[in-house]
Amino acid sequence: MDYKTIMCDVLVVGAGGAGCRAAIEASNHNLDVIMLSKELLGKAHTAMAEGGYNVSLGNVDPDDDPETHFKDTIVGGNYLNDQKLAEILVRDAPQRIFDLEDMGAVFDRTPEGKIAQRVFGKQSWRRTAYASDRTGSEIMVTLTEGIRKTAVRVFDEVFATRLLVKDGKISGVCAVDLKYGDYLVFRAKSVVMATGGAGRIFSVTSNAQLDVGDGYGMAYETGCEMIDMEMIQFHPTGMVKPESAKGRLVTEAVRGEGGILLNSKGERFMNRYYPEVMELAGRDQVARSIMTEVLEGRGTPDGGVYLSISHLPHSIIEFRLESMIEQFEDAGVDIREEPMQVSPTAHHFMGGIKIDENSGTNIPGLFASGECTGGVHGGNRLGGNALADTQVFGALSGENAAKYAKETDNLGVNREEIKNEFERLEAMLKRKEGISPADARSELTELMWAKVQIFRKEDDMQYAVKELRRIEKEVVPKIKVDVPVKRFNPGWHQAMEFVNMVTTARMVAEAAVMRKGSRGAHYRVDDDPNDKGYYNIVIRKGKDGKMDLRKEDVVATKITPP
Ligand code: FUM
Repeated sequence: MDYKTIMCDVLVVGAGGAGCRAAIEASNHNLDVIMLSKELLGKAHTAMAEGGYNVSLGNVDPDDDPETHFKDTIVGGNYLNDQKLAEILVRDAPQRIFDLEDMGAVFDRTPEGKIAQRVFGKQSWRRTAYASDRTGSEIMVTLTEGIRKTAVRVFDEVFATRLLVKDGKISGVCAVDLKYGDYLVFRAKSVVMATGGAGRIFSVTSNAQLDVGDGYGMAYETGCEMIDMEMIQFHPTGMVKPESAKGRLVTEAVRGEGGILLNSKGERFMNRYYPEVMELAGRDQVARSIMTEVLEGRGTPDGGVYLSISHLPHSIIEFRLESMIEQFEDAGVDIREEPMQVSPTAHHFMGGIKIDENSGTNIPGLFASGECTGGVHGGNRLGGNALADTQVFGALSGENAAKYAKETDNLGVNREEIKNEFERLEAMLKRKEGISPADARSELTELMWAKVQIFRKEDDMQYAVKELRRIEKEVVPKIKVDVPVKRFNPGWHQAMEFVNMVTTARMVAEAAVMRKGSRGAHYRVDDDPNDKGYYNIVIRKGKDGKMDLRKEDVVATKITPP
């Protein structure tokens, strides 16, 4: 099996907000840094983040401070957060947004010229900094320009498939150059995983095509500890129509700016569920309220509810929600005059790779940041905390990966392991008969949407677990790519991703079955009131190859759970 070996000091896998920030930070240490991007540089899911970046600047509400941001984050996370990580988030968010400004990012301003801040759900103050409703895009443009000013070597359209470990420490990754179909081995002293989330394991999602859980799958296979994988955030407002845009994000900023939710009877139904905060309840709460309206027959004929902003002056809508105007114009709706139709969409993984205060994992030399990690947001992430997370932990992971690399030599790699990995990928092309990756993916994403969604129950989840175990055993080994070519072959890419999707989905479903009590985004209609302890679920691949799950007490250093 031919492959090319490329050496570096620090390897960053993933090129979204966290990956770019990690690579920039690591390159400040005069090291040879490589960043792998599954897509063309800049085409990351971060660019699709709309509403904003949480930071307690106090520019609009002067009483805000990191302490209150911390408290909101912990209460919002249902006390399941690792409080040491949440402290880092709120402590470093201000400096990291100033870094972005130094790199050229332009955020909207107050009349006095300070960074403007809007209100998002479950937050005590107006804290969310923004660039209209395309904040993620502004950040990504800035970071990709920032990357170009460094010596970071960017490998576009290169897909990492396996982490390599030597003597228990990270030593590199196996990857495929998607353009040419070449096999690559990157040998590195330290590796940062910044591979994003996995909304795409659900058939309705706000996530970009690339968010299939590559990092979760790879990390698990390598023996990384994973935390709270059952905690999936369903954003309350995704597009309903047209079918091709189903699930696409309708930013929380619409509600932050004053948008109201109405059912088919014209009732402002949030009054029934959370009258004190109405549309600005937690995302899990708003999502459940919308679903209840739909399930009880008060939804729209297309299975959603209405979100209206037309009572606001056109100028506000045009200035602060410009992408929403365009997004709905494409669907034939003028949001200045007409209501939008919305329903929940799989949006964010609160769980992921377990990290410590250095963004390190249980594997020496392996660091992680951004959505692929777990612990920061507990059982439910506050809108706006994800962009801040990418910058805070992106920088931290880059810095610590650089420090680690400086004190380490490049370790060797196990050639047998590499050969096995590339043979595994090659087999998908060579199989004479088998199952198409597109069909297999549809089966999995429909299963997850039907059985492990917002309202969960034991039978459904047990069924999902059983099916996922079957898929892992019987479907994964039979995946066959229709056209057996290696140069840019989307069928092969889908096939390579599929195994990560299955591993990720299994972790979600198995952990969801283990947690019998409702907590945060994990809501069970058959809630067990005896399972109300504040614990995290940690998953690790056992020596026998089985998925081991265990409970661990939450890290509650500052606020004691009630
Ligand atoms: O609604 C939004 O704009 C999403 C923001 C977020 O998930 O942080």
